[in-house]
Amino acid sequence: MPVVRGKIIEPLFTAEEIDARNKTMAAQISAGPVKDLLVIAVLKGSFIFAADLIRALHNSGLAPEVEFITLSSYGTGTVSKGVKIIKDIDSDVKDRDILLIDDILESGRTLQFARDLMYERGARHVSIAVLLDKSVKRQEKLEADYVGFECPDYFVVGYGMDAAYAFRELPFVGVVKGDA
Ligand code: IMP
Ligand code: MG
Repeated sequence: MPVVRGKIIEPLFTAEEIDARNKTMAAQISAGPVKDLLVIAVLKGSFIFAADLIRALHNSGLAPEVEFITLSSYGTGTVSKGVKIIKDIDSDVKDRDILLIDDILESGRTLQFARDLMYERGARHVSIAVLLDKSVKRQEKLEADYVGFECPDYFVVGYGMDAAYAFRELPFVGVVKGDA
């Protein structure tokens, strides 16, 4: 098993599996009702997934505009009380077709907040693509339109996702198993 900075990381989804899924998702997205697509990546965790998915969208014939929003949950400890905007998008979303891209759909609070925000600002349609769906953890009535993989209830790292600021650079998604 890979050892990264003294920690054993068990791969859950390999770079090859993710790449294949991204191509399939891009084909699904391009088959949907999208003409003038504005992609909004929800930072930070989605940055690698978004970069790969956007290039797969190009190969599926789409030419999306790309924006970034940084969102953060707040609350005490692990109990999330709400979501706040750390850095907003620059574009006007009025009458636009939006695709929100995030790394993980867990409770659903982050993407519920982002979707409501875009509709409040006048978006025509908002769809959601996530790499991973931890559906057992859902608190909100929210589903993604495009899901890479159903994710077991482990804390995962890599492919953009961190544990205490580490492991975002891993080309695969894995679980920290402890010290090597
Ligand atoms: P939600 O608002 O509960 O759906 O939270 C989803 C967000 O929590 C994701 O965008 C991630 O930033 C973060 N998150 C949830 N689970 C994990 C994990 O296993 N590893 C890293 N980040 C996670
Ligand atoms: Mg996130």
